[in-house]
Amino acid sequence: MELKPYLSKKRAIVDQALRGIFPVIPKGPAADVVKAMAYSLFAGGKRLRPILCIAGAEAVGGKGTSVLPVACALELIHTYSLIHDDLPVMDNDDLRRGKPTNHKVFGEAVALLAGDGLLTEAFRLMGGSMMAESVEAPSLLRVIRLVAEAAGYEGMIGGQVVDIQSEGKQVEPGIVEFIHTRKTGALISASVASGAILGGGRDEEVEAITLYGRRIGLAFQVADDILDIEGDSKTLGKRVGVDAGKRKITYPSVVGLASSKEIQKDLAEQAVGALKGFDEKAEPLRKLAVYIIERKR
Ligand code: IPE
Ligand code: IPE
Ligand code: MG
Ligand code: MG
Ligand code: MG
Repeated sequence: MELKPYLSKKRAIVDQALRGIFPVIPKGPAADVVKAMAYSLFAGGKRLRPILCIAGAEAVGGKGTSVLPVACALELIHTYSLIHDDLPVMDNDDLRRGKPTNHKVFGEAVALLAGDGLLTEAFRLMGGSMMAESVEAPSLLRVIRLVAEAAGYEGMIGGQVVDIQSEGKQVEPGIVEFIHTRKTGALISASVASGAILGGGRDEEVEAITLYGRRIGLAFQVADDILDIEGDSKTLGKRVGVDAGKRKITYPSVVGLASSKEIQKDLAEQAVGALKGFDEKAEPLRKLAVYIIERKR
């Protein structure tokens, strides 16, 4: 199984589904916010979270296409988090996905609302008729709750607030893991676990895939920190060197670059280890764990 063609194929499916959600030319007095939402959504992300959701479903024998609305919802939530993360009151960045950040184009107020709009739309999508027809209500409700927890104050929001409040400070050991497992790890873990639940995975399977998700979720943010030091801005589509400039709490700043790379490798191995009871249907997930730490963007 080759990961590259798998990723391109799934990315195309996700992009097409996302296109279906937004009107090509938004009309009416509130058109600007829809334009701003679509601007960031179609600026060219990797679509990792929706792909993980699909791969999670497939790993337990489910159909990838039946989870598409939830997969798209995860990308909407992720995109909202990027728009808000880039705002002047947060990381104050001007480049994202290779383009000027949302607030640079639409202004801070519309960017803020575009983020809110994407977050809200995600829950409408998950509760929409397409999901209601393809899965049992208890599974769908479980997924909606899981995604809400991952995106909320116990997850992404909790991580983001500690990330911002820790800038330039000496923090206790454990804080960097607290930040990273929440600001980034939680949504990634929920993405793959949602797929496994919706794909009809048994409890032990969902548990194993959740553990896999936690490990790759943390590894993903450690890799993001490393790329901020060693990556190329053009390839990444965002500025590099910004963490050091803001004295952010990152793995390299806390444990050093070499240890960060070791940690990343251990996490990817643990992730693959969590899938030992799975057959070849979990091969994309195994390959994704390696991709996450070897990626250049
Ligand atoms: C960037 O996420 C922000 C983090 C959570 C580290 P991605 O690296 O997945 O960004 P896109 O979606 O490809 O733009
Ligand atoms: C972002 O972490 C996490 C979320 C958006 C929730 P970073 O601030 O490190 O992400 P980048 O480097 O700006 O993409
Ligand atoms: Mg940030
Ligand atoms: Mg940032
Ligand atoms: Mg970063």
